[in-house]
Amino acid sequence: AGSLKVGLAGLGTVGSSVVRILQDKAAKLAAKAGRPVELVAVCAKEVRDKNLDLATVRWVDSPTALAADPEIDVLVELMGGEGDPAKTTVETALKSGKHVVTANKALIARHGAMLARAAEDRNVAFNFEAAVAGGIPVIKTLREGLVANRIDRVWGILNGTCNYILTRMLDEKLSFEDCLKEAQRLGYAEANPAFDIDGFDTAHKLAILTSLAFGTEIDCDAVYVEGVRSISLADLEMADELGYRVKLLGVAVRTDSGIEQRVHPTMVPKESPLAQVGGVTNAVKIDGDAVSLTLIGPGAGGPATASAVVSDLCDIARGDRIAPFGRSVDRLVRPRRAPMQHH
Ligand code: HSE
Repeated sequence: AGSLKVGLAGLGTVGSSVVRILQDKAAKLAAKAGRPVELVAVCAKEVRDKNLDLATVRWVDSPTALAADPEIDVLVELMGGEGDPAKTTVETALKSGKHVVTANKALIARHGAMLARAAEDRNVAFNFEAAVAGGIPVIKTLREGLVANRIDRVWGILNGTCNYILTRMLDEKLSFEDCLKEAQRLGYAEANPAFDIDGFDTAHKLAILTSLAFGTEIDCDAVYVEGVRSISLADLEMADELGYRVKLLGVAVRTDSGIEQRVHPTMVPKESPLAQVGGVTNAVKIDGDAVSLTLIGPGAGGPATASAVVSDLCDIARGDRIAPFGRSVDRLVRPRRAPMQHH
């Protein structure tokens, strides 16, 4: 096969990093993937990294035009947002027989089942490793590595921005607002940071993990959600005195009545491994009947998230195809309240 030809929509924090990796590591990636992965066309409202060398790529006016562009084999959607233009762009690409790679957790949490079916219909890949926990390969771990397990629980720290804020506030005695501004400056936060601090970004990611872990349809409305907006430095100091760290956790657990999904701030004992996960780092714990493990790594930011995007592209270059989502009999139940303390 010749090179895998990539069209990229969105040149923000993640998109810019993807361009850099594809250019700087072109030869090594071609060797690992078995053929070159070549960026041929882009579409973006603005370019976050002003030093990018885009002289050899073609600019396309609209993301939907890029999605249907005859030259490309795969569309990489890094615009974000659960509605349009992202949704129409991804749909157009799949219906045009293009593979799709996206980091858009809001889009998948809302429309993932429909998009996965569209991909199946055309026998193309729909990959989204970068949508959950940034650089941590948790999607591949659940789909591939742990496929033989019955999963009983998936849980952890899934939002880098909130973890960064909660860590910095206590360590540096800073205000919530100042830490949030810093997280935005570093490119960790969503375009609308309310998604981070109100817990919805974690809920989107959790809903995706739940679907892969338990084989259920994605339903982010079934997640109990509580964010960190109202947490003050005094709260964190109080928890500290009592021997706890406050973490925003996403938890999906098998119960007698069904699969329960919840997102809320939780007091975690200081000496536990989760309490020691600081800054923008994410941690995902998976409890299976044969294998239980914890994955810890960078949960947000350009290079880490782009690393996951490029891994999806290399899978496609190799011809790997993965059955997207399960449709099993496990039932989702929406919990009514948040336990204060970690079990
Ligand atoms: N805003 C997200 C976070 C980016 O802070 O975790 C990674 O999905």
